[in-house]
Amino acid sequence: MKAKWWQTAVVYQIYPRSFQDSNGDGIGDLQGIITRLDYLENLGISAIWLSPVYQSPNDDNGYDISDYQNIMTEFGTMEDMDELIKQAEKRNIKIIMDLVVNHTSDEHQWFIESRKGKDNPYRDYYIWRDPVNGRKPNDLRSIFSGSAWEFDEESGQYYLHLFSKKQPDLNWENESVRQEVWDMMNFWLEKGVGGFRMDVIDLIGKIPDQEITGNGPKLHEYLQEMNEKTFGNYDVLTVGETWGATPEIAKLYSNPKRKELSMVFQFEHIGLDQQEGKDKWDTKPLSVNELKKVLSKWQTSLGNEGWNSLFWNNHDLPRIVSRWGNDTTYHKESAKMFAILLHLMKGTPYIYQGEEIGMTNCKITDISEVNDIESINMYKERLAQGYSKEEIIDSINKKGRDNARTPMQWDNSENAGFTTGTPWLRVNPNYKEINVTANLADANSIFYCYKQLIQLRKDNPIIVWGDYVLVEEVPEQVFMYLRKFEGETWAVVANFGDQAVAIQLPEFGQSTRILIANYPRSSVEFSQLELKPYEAFAVKL
Ligand code: NOJ
Repeated sequence: MKAKWWQTAVVYQIYPRSFQDSNGDGIGDLQGIITRLDYLENLGISAIWLSPVYQSPNDDNGYDISDYQNIMTEFGTMEDMDELIKQAEKRNIKIIMDLVVNHTSDEHQWFIESRKGKDNPYRDYYIWRDPVNGRKPNDLRSIFSGSAWEFDEESGQYYLHLFSKKQPDLNWENESVRQEVWDMMNFWLEKGVGGFRMDVIDLIGKIPDQEITGNGPKLHEYLQEMNEKTFGNYDVLTVGETWGATPEIAKLYSNPKRKELSMVFQFEHIGLDQQEGKDKWDTKPLSVNELKKVLSKWQTSLGNEGWNSLFWNNHDLPRIVSRWGNDTTYHKESAKMFAILLHLMKGTPYIYQGEEIGMTNCKITDISEVNDIESINMYKERLAQGYSKEEIIDSINKKGRDNARTPMQWDNSENAGFTTGTPWLRVNPNYKEINVTANLADANSIFYCYKQLIQLRKDNPIIVWGDYVLVEEVPEQVFMYLRKFEGETWAVVANFGDQAVAIQLPEFGQSTRILIANYPRSSVEFSQLELKPYEAFAVKL
């Protein structure tokens, strides 16, 4: 089968605000990214997913866009952006833009007009409703706490915002809105970007009056129209942030025959430590068996009719090594274990900045240390509901998005080499030990494990195309699977526990063909295999 470039690629996500500052204002920028492209080339990635770099008042750090065709002043200029695309291309790296079109900023010109009154030509670009019995139209809630409806005194109507009130939702039913989005996408495609990551794209088909938000009836119609009017004729990667996708829904998005997106980015595995029916702040311990079930389901159910992303981290999630691994005694081992387990699966892997050097969560003790609007709104809401401060801070330490957003740790100099100024968000104090320079100097580092995994994927079609089989006859804490392709079989074994564990699988025999491992290992004897804490390896059978 002829692979598409994005099927063999590994994508690296950059959160520009926190990646590299070049002018000392404490905020990462495009020139900063350019200076780090050699580092990314060395790692071996094929594409960068760039979190939003457009003009924005930063109520939600760039996910509230006020101008889609201009660069955020703090990040640089359009010339810098053109240079980034060009410099990346020289290194065979494509730039994937973050497409945030479920909503704009309330400071976008369209909304400024829309707000002027019911007769304004832009009124219908957004979702305005009359009060019902003097109250908000219905009970839709914002993902950032509180009602999703905001009252506008002047016109006596409410507008919908599924995120903050500074992020009004666009009305996708309006053909002019769609045309504006297509024009904007074509502007970026003509610049030579490598594709789009589509922010909460599952929400664009919403029917607010019926309280339907995700997976609305017109969603796929809009995506087919988008494909036809914009990227359909380009060889680009398009990935939808698709909350609530089942494998069946994933096929709707990503079956090549349907001409929608290249792949989905779904969260079923990463929500497994959330209490049933509660929200993200209410956690429970992870069941490794559940994780095996969910990841395996996604490995086996798409066939040739869909494509999935592989990830543990992004800018909205706590760091996996702190969350489900061990960021103290077995920091290196557990970080590599997560990498090996995931990167040998089928799908397109995503690495979130700093993951490749084992960056960890960063604890806070007070709400004044928090920048993220989601955590701040939740704090206020839960305080009013009677939760104690300690409980709320604890949940922010576990699940808050700032955990992933602390500046990239480049070296052991002041502010980790991120900035010469005052960083917009504090640097994790562990930067003296955990940083890029230290990783590059240690042949055994987490960085080199990721680099080796990326190279393995480039060299071995079995990783891209092989069949996946879960091995069930192992203790719960061991995650083991096989990949099979053209007569070859690989076994991937990962111990999720901080205790050693033994497995006996004589039918797999013995092998000295170790492909990658996080402890020194020259052979594997499956009839009597003792795994060390967080041990992981892949072996050719
Ligand atoms: C998902 C993004 O990943 C997140 O950071 C953002 O807050 C929301 N969408 C709203 O755009």
